Amino acid sequence: MARYGYNHHDQAGELRRMVQDTIDKNKAAVPSRRLHTLSVLSGKGGVGKSNIAAGLSFALADYGKRVVLIDADLGMANLDILCGVNNARYNISHLIDGSRNLNEILVHFRTSQRATNQNGAVALLPGGVGLKDIADLDEFDMERLFESLSGLESLSDYLIMDAGAGIHKGVLSFAYASEITLLVTTPEPTSIRDAYGVIKSLGAAAWESIEGVATGLMLVVNMASSSREASEVAERIRLASMQFLGNAPVYLGYVLKDDVIEQSVKGRRIFYRADPDSKASICVRNLAGELLRFCDGANIKPENLPEDEKEGTIKAFFRRLTGNFFAGKK
Ligand SMILES: Nc1ncnc2c1ncn2[C@@H]1O[C@H](COP(=O)(O)OP(=O)(O)OP(=O)(O)O)[C@@H](O)[C@H]1O
Ligand SMILES: [Mg+2]
Repeated sequence: MARYGYNHHDQAGELRRMVQDTIDKNKAAVPSRRLHTLSVLSGKGGVGKSNIAAGLSFALADYGKRVVLIDADLGMANLDILCGVNNARYNISHLIDGSRNLNEILVHFRTSQRATNQNGAVALLPGGVGLKDIADLDEFDMERLFESLSGLESLSDYLIMDAGAGIHKGVLSFAYASEITLLVTTPEPTSIRDAYGVIKSLGAAAWESIEGVATGLMLVVNMASSSREASEVAERIRLASMQFLGNAPVYLGYVLKDDVIEQSVKGRRIFYRADPDSKASICVRNLAGELLRFCDGANIKPENLPEDEKEGTIKAFFRRLTGNFFAGKK
């Protein structure tokens, strides 16, 4: 950045302004649609993706949104346990092999008493243990999966997918295909470095629109000891990203470190429902609020939707997902 001739202090200020410009640009670019696709992923494992994906789903439901939570971390699925579902009989593998239909598999949760809008709902599509990676499915399996999920188009507002950890194709393809990707990190240096690794692996696709659909890459800092620590972590990642990759993810927000999560996991209840007033639940509610502002912020008319979204968001999502798997795009 020496070409600008600024001193170090000015460079940091300039970078911050560039980051802010990107945020504003990205915010303006995400259109408001009936159905939003959102993937939750991370570089390092065990950073809280599944808890955040589940907590966010219940928080969005409290705001009146109809959410379908999909356990797409196929080999390591555990959202059923986190959500307190005992012995889910069927899972995503039964959709893939065609032996069960969506209605038989979805697990519905009652609306919360504290919901400000009673239209909200959460339904879970459980994963299974030891299933093959989603990237290993053949085109036929994928086709059957997306055909059975396209029924959700008119029944849901948000499709939230727990996509797992790492930089392999099965995880990154979700980021390529989703309208919004939440990249979860903790303040640990190893987690920060791996989050940056994901951003780098995504390459230009993290910022570019895909087939006309603007994608938003957003950071969530989990297990933070304070909002200040979380902001500093996010700022470090964003500045490095801006400096070396020329663009930066939006900082959506943070979740504080809170024992309620571990206790709830042990008690097989989702923390957001077990203790809605806990620090972690309040943070997740704030995240949901920010997300709603982001998604509802820009309003575009249905006739102005990108061409491929007119036939349905789910179809478009799966076409992008399978395109990445099978066309060897990335
Ligand atoms: N905000 C938090 N405060 C305290 N503990 C947390 C928090 N978030 C998650 N944890 C703990 O971290 C553990 C891992 O969380 P979780 O299973 O959601 O992570 P993950 O990223 O989905 O892991 P994996 O990569 O294995 O799928 C949980 O069992 C929980 O005890
Ligand atoms: Mg997980």
